[in-house]
Amino acid sequence: MYTTTQIQFFQTATNQFLQLPLNADSTTDQLAQLKDLLRFHEYRYYVLNDPLVADFEYDQLFKQLQQFESSHPKLITPDSPTQRVGNSLNQSFQTVAHLVPMLSLDNSYNADDLIDFDRKARELSETDIISYCIEPKFDGASISLIYENDQLVRAITRGDGVEGEDITNNVKQIRSIPLTARFSQFGISQIEIRGEIIMSKSSFEKYNQQLISQGASPLANPRNAASGSLRMKDPKEVAQRNLDAFLYHVSYFQTIDGRKVEELSSHAGALQLLWDLGFRSPQKEKRVVQGIQPVIEYVLEFEAKRDDLPYEIDGMVVKVNSLAMQEQLGMTSHHPRWAIAYKFKARQATTRLRSIEFQVGRTGAVTPVAKLDPVYLGGVTVSSISVHNEEYIREKDLKIGDHVLIERAGDVIPQIVKSLADFRNGEEIAIQFPKTCPVCNSELFKEESEAVWRCINIECEAQVVEKMIHFVSKDAMDIKSFGEANVRKFYELGFLKDIPGIYQLPYDKIGTLEGFGKKSLDNLQAAIEASKLQPLHRLIYALGIRFVGETTAKTLANAVENIYDFISKDEATLLELEDVGVKVAKSIHSFFQNDQNIEMLHQLENLGLQFKNVKKEAVGADSLGGQTFLFTGMLNKLKRSEAEEMVEKNGGKIMSGVSSKLNYLIVGEDAGSKLEKAKKINTIHIISEDEFLQLIQQNQS
Ligand code: IVH
Repeated sequence: MYTTTQIQFFQTATNQFLQLPLNADSTTDQLAQLKDLLRFHEYRYYVLNDPLVADFEYDQLFKQLQQFESSHPKLITPDSPTQRVGNSLNQSFQTVAHLVPMLSLDNSYNADDLIDFDRKARELSETDIISYCIEPKFDGASISLIYENDQLVRAITRGDGVEGEDITNNVKQIRSIPLTARFSQFGISQIEIRGEIIMSKSSFEKYNQQLISQGASPLANPRNAASGSLRMKDPKEVAQRNLDAFLYHVSYFQTIDGRKVEELSSHAGALQLLWDLGFRSPQKEKRVVQGIQPVIEYVLEFEAKRDDLPYEIDGMVVKVNSLAMQEQLGMTSHHPRWAIAYKFKARQATTRLRSIEFQVGRTGAVTPVAKLDPVYLGGVTVSSISVHNEEYIREKDLKIGDHVLIERAGDVIPQIVKSLADFRNGEEIAIQFPKTCPVCNSELFKEESEAVWRCINIECEAQVVEKMIHFVSKDAMDIKSFGEANVRKFYELGFLKDIPGIYQLPYDKIGTLEGFGKKSLDNLQAAIEASKLQPLHRLIYALGIRFVGETTAKTLANAVENIYDFISKDEATLLELEDVGVKVAKSIHSFFQNDQNIEMLHQLENLGLQFKNVKKEAVGADSLGGQTFLFTGMLNKLKRSEAEEMVEKNGGKIMSGVSSKLNYLIVGEDAGSKLEKAKKINTIHIISEDEFLQLIQQNQS
């Protein structure tokens, strides 16, 4: 639809309008240009599903046009992007009409925008204080569901707002969407409900891990994962994706005899009705308040806990609670006047990819890291991002010099969403993956089933240093005040060459370095000494055995009297341990068959490290008597890590999945598949966070 030259022209125009918005002196030509520019970006977003700007930037351009038009109403043309509801479709599923056009919401970014929204609504409705209902703005794929005579008859994507794609069969795979609901109880014969299909952060992470292990590339965010999943050809595959849905709006309904439905006279009432009929509406998340001030407080409160939610939200939606007032306020051609989205700080931005650095990790894996022009992204400045592997670079079509769209999903590490290949000018350079290790120069290898290239020289400097950094780190031996910087410094100065060397540092020489006064030297030495008594599971984790994470390290430590016991355990014996699969068993076995590793262990033992599995005698230790526990969903009073620590301190064990070996499942908010699975095993005690705390208390008294 657009030629490369046009695309490049729009790129320049985007930057120009962002830097120099339309103003009183702008010409009608410039106005026409801005409209064309918005149409272009809409096409990229809605039709191609391939935006070239971040949402925030698009919104800025759109607002500019709106503001200009409101001060020059005579210049508003019927074809202005402000005057319509989208227009094109992605054609792969059958196209069907929505009962009511699906409008989008106007956006706000700060308290002033909200105050402004409230002022206009009060003026138009001639009301002093408006009652608002506030709920999360779910970041997924929007849909409408139509129920007729209590049956789900159709599920439609947003499409262009007027028509969408019929994805009924796929949506029927989503468990949180009831196939039947007793609307007839309220006299309702037909109803259209709007909502959002989402993928929880944990399902997303699991899905990405699965993609990575299959050698495929991870997705940038749960939204892409959700909307991609909805378009799968095979509904069975959709079922495996663990999608979820929040329903938040009744857009149309008809009653049998035209009677009114009392419950549907307010938005909060509609959410309650949906909830009561078995839908996942934001019933617990919503809040009804009077006036705009408490709205501002609530959106800020929610923004602060955004990262703690089990799913992604990109803002909050503020809605006038009374439906009569909603009707009175009506809508512009683009947005309802009775609702506004409050968008959280942007977590998407565009920047330039300047170079690729190849880093060698402690397992020898060579990871390409993209170096970017620094860009501010939701609270942090990002200047480098891992681009995983060669395959990933190919799939994202990354080149040095490219403009790239980056995103930070939740609390996870930023990712490159895609390269903006249309902005290329021919000077971009293809990324060459090295054939030899960038640190020690030995040849790189790749296993067939894997996507990563590895340096297999175990003396490779990079690996040696990374292994030591891991050894001293917080979750491993937790040697305070050592840290990455000191490992690197001591290594470069020749004071440290391997893990046993950590316990034989030349303190006299270190004392002569700048920044190492007597006090800091004493602290360092004390921390190193203290680490010798760390429990066995920390040491096992600190050794950096491939595939052995913290949980597996605990299982391993509990399975032996002394670390040397592993030398005589074959793969089959290791496989009997909980959470130990073939890959892990192989890796542990080969670690303890390696002479160099055993020599290192002997040295560490002579240096005084704790090799025995000493059970902690904490308060009430063992009172949980080896019972197994698993937490699911969001806890309200405890952090997940605190709760797990409580279990372990009291002699219980944490499991990583639901099985018949599990004794207790502690269920927080929004628990999902683990709870469902546990319900089917009747030996598992399913308890709440409070009940868990009581259990711990009882055991301690
Ligand atoms: S209300 C007519 N409520 O945000 C009003 N929308 O641009 C219908 N969204 O397309 C929308 N969470 O996909 C509403 N709690 C929520 C929402 C929500 C997410 C999405 C929806 C819509 C877009 C607004």
